Amino acid sequence: MIAPPRVWWKPLGRLERSWFKLAFVWCIFLTAMMPLWFFLGRQNVPTTTYRVTAEQFQRQVDAFIQQYQVGTENGFPVVEPPPGSDVYMLARMWQWTPVLKLKRGATYRLHLSSTDVQHGFSLQPLNLNFMVLPGYDYVVTITPTTAGEFSVVCNEYCGIGHHLMIGKIIVTE
Ligand code: CUA
Repeated sequence: MIAPPRVWWKPLGRLERSWFKLAFVWCIFLTAMMPLWFFLGRQNVPTTTYRVTAEQFQRQVDAFIQQYQVGTENGFPVVEPPPGSDVYMLARMWQWTPVLKLKRGATYRLHLSSTDVQHGFSLQPLNLNFMVLPGYDYVVTITPTTAGEFSVVCNEYCGIGHHLMIGKIIVTE
């Protein structure tokens, strides 16, 4: 057997050196993009969060539904809150409630929480994703820019009915 010399990489070949430089520059670029994208990407997740118990959140959602309900769809209340208001969506095994009816161009504070286990709010087909945790009221400030019907699917495995957990947001002109 022929063993390579102990310091086999010296001198570094021309191609080897080029690839090393390229990889180094790419590493620096990607590292720099992490903090840069925080400011330039405008994709930062919201940071407004309150502690809440399942009972408190359930009460807030019930009051919200009672105040602004305009109909029912497949047994779920359809709620049309005034533009600019605080709106609520509750996750539990395995449903999202209520169905929200929002106005295009208006800004809302969407409160998300779960009354049992961890769920994932995934607005489709826009692919906006947020964690929904029990014990926390997570507030997402949203301004719908497109009218239409959007599905809310659960993207955190939450038990046997996970794949059936589909909610809805309707955006009107
Ligand atoms: Cu809720 Cu998966």
